Amino acid sequence: MDSPMCLIENVDGELRVVPEAIKYLHGLNQDVVVVAVVGLYRTGKSYLMNKLAGKKKGFALGATVQSKTKGIWMWCVPHPVKRDHTMVLLDTEGLGDVEKGDTKNDAWIFSLAILLSSTLVYNSRGTIDNQAVENLQYVTELTDRIKVKSSSAASSCDDEEEDMQYVQFFPDFVWAVRDFTLRLEIDGRNVTEDEYLEHSLDIKKGNNKKSMMYNLPRECIRKYFPSRKCFVFTSPTNPDKMSRLDSMDESELCGDFLKVADNFCSYIFKQSRVKTVNRGHNVTGRMLGHLVNTYVLTIASGAVPCLENAVLAMAQIENQAAVDEGLAVYQKGMEEVKALFPVDMGQLSAHHLRSDHQATQVFISRSFKDENGDFLKALAEAISKHYADLRIQNEVTSEKKCKDFLEMLSVPISQKITAGIYATPGGYEVYCNHHDNLVAQYRAEPNKGVRAEEILDRFLRDKNLEKSSILQADKRLTENEKKIFEEKERTAVLEQERKAAVEKQAELERTLEDDRKTKDDKLKQMEEKMKEHLKQQELDFSRALECKMKEQKDLLEKGHKEKADLMRQEIEEFKKSQKTENQGGNFLETTILPIVRVGLDAVSSFFQYKLLKKTVL
Ligand SMILES: *[C@@H]1O[C@H](CO)[C@@H](O)[C@H](O)[C@H]1NC(C)=O
Ligand SMILES: *[C@@H]1O[C@H](CO)[C@@H](O)[C@H](O)[C@H]1NC(C)=O
Repeated sequence: MDSPMCLIENVDGELRVVPEAIKYLHGLNQDVVVVAVVGLYRTGKSYLMNKLAGKKKGFALGATVQSKTKGIWMWCVPHPVKRDHTMVLLDTEGLGDVEKGDTKNDAWIFSLAILLSSTLVYNSRGTIDNQAVENLQYVTELTDRIKVKSSSAASSCDDEEEDMQYVQFFPDFVWAVRDFTLRLEIDGRNVTEDEYLEHSLDIKKGNNKKSMMYNLPRECIRKYFPSRKCFVFTSPTNPDKMSRLDSMDESELCGDFLKVADNFCSYIFKQSRVKTVNRGHNVTGRMLGHLVNTYVLTIASGAVPCLENAVLAMAQIENQAAVDEGLAVYQKGMEEVKALFPVDMGQLSAHHLRSDHQATQVFISRSFKDENGDFLKALAEAISKHYADLRIQNEVTSEKKCKDFLEMLSVPISQKITAGIYATPGGYEVYCNHHDNLVAQYRAEPNKGVRAEEILDRFLRDKNLEKSSILQADKRLTENEKKIFEEKERTAVLEQERKAAVEKQAELERTLEDDRKTKDDKLKQMEEKMKEHLKQQELDFSRALECKMKEQKDLLEKGHKEKADLMRQEIEEFKKSQKTENQGGNFLETTILPIVRVGLDAVSSFFQYKLLKKTVL
């Protein structure tokens, strides 16, 4: 992408996605790190965004270009540090722009920035004073604007129950203070940027209205964004040069400013996490596109965007696509062997096992939240069906090849019968010689496929009458000799019948064995994926817990015992709920995997039923 494009636009007060931008995201298969920058108009966000993008221009600088669309602009660039990742920069154009006077949509845009990003940069000017905190007003309404679970009702910032859930998916928070003119000092003591931020977010004691008003936004910031970082920038240049900041060379900018800007960028590059949903599931550009769509449609319909529902909707789309992609991989994998039909069972089976494994890999890597294995089952079904078709095609080709070949080989014998060659004394022996020759030629022919013995069996039966009439007509043989030859012939036919049965049985056993193998393979791959996800979830959980415990300790140290106690209870509840959810860590083994197995078994049984029915008939 050479320049940013509008992702979400605001047309006549309605938020809408820009289809081209969604299309762009849908073509993006890499995991994404999403950095959203929010903040008032004309606070110099664009300089930081452009710097993050590694470009001098792109995002319009507030001083020169009026924002035509109040919405969200997007710039996707290759991640400068993480290989095979894309960094998606989101600019919330004109947020809080009083001239445009649309606070309702501003609040939605702020929520969208939170829902979509993995790092949220809040850009403000001057100092972190009460005004700066209050400008972040939308943070106090977040629970009215974002739902985590579809079941829970929207409520105010005080609702303890959902807080921990918010923490698990909320972005990391970075406060960029621009044009800072003071010293980083508290009570005459030099402090770090982070200490400065924390100090600004300290809450006041007391329950009077004034301190509650003061505390509310601070408490919300602390609750929702337990991971916080602060960068303090001096002015980049003289005020009179600010309007041409984007055309200025870096060397013209103030050194202190550049140093902080560099630190800021390298922090974002190194520390910003891959965007995840469903606790620990990495989000690709394509998935981000689905999320944007769902959230914006939900808001446009007048409802509150809900994380759980959006993830479910995305899971449906992605999992169906994963089934289709898996099947396509299987079909492609079988094309090579299909061109060689008829092939023997060993060759067919080897291709089948390999293609099935690859198809499952592709499915597993794309699917997510396929908790009951319904989509894995759908893939197994689709493959099973396709494989059945291929086996029939292989059989038909084999039958045709064998029949044609036998027919061709039979021509000289038929001609000799018509010419009466065998209707002489000793003719039977000559016929048998020719016939045995034919069978030997047939056997010597390679690549006859899976029906070779059966077709020969049928052929021998068909020729039975012909053979027997030549035998009976042979005047050189005694009755006794004829009986012996008849007996020999019967044995030969029975022997061929046995061979045909063995051929069929071997095919059946191989097919059943393969079915078991592919089922086990699918279960194993699914189990690995789920275990990996569980590990991610636990990491996510620990991270959230750690953040909360740090907050609680901080509250206690600063003498807010009551609030600290409340938070401790909340942390305990959270731990307990996590335990219940995992049923002591065995949930996967005791519940999930057995359900997946039952699903796959059903596909298998149906497959076997069809297979056996066909064999028996
Ligand atoms: C704080 O930092 C400033 C500038 O670096 C320095 O001049 C001053 O002496 C420091 N004050 C204290 C109390 O360390
Ligand atoms: C998710 O992304 C992280 C960070 O890039 C990576 O370490 C992890 O392996 C990814 N997980 C999956 C399942 O791809």
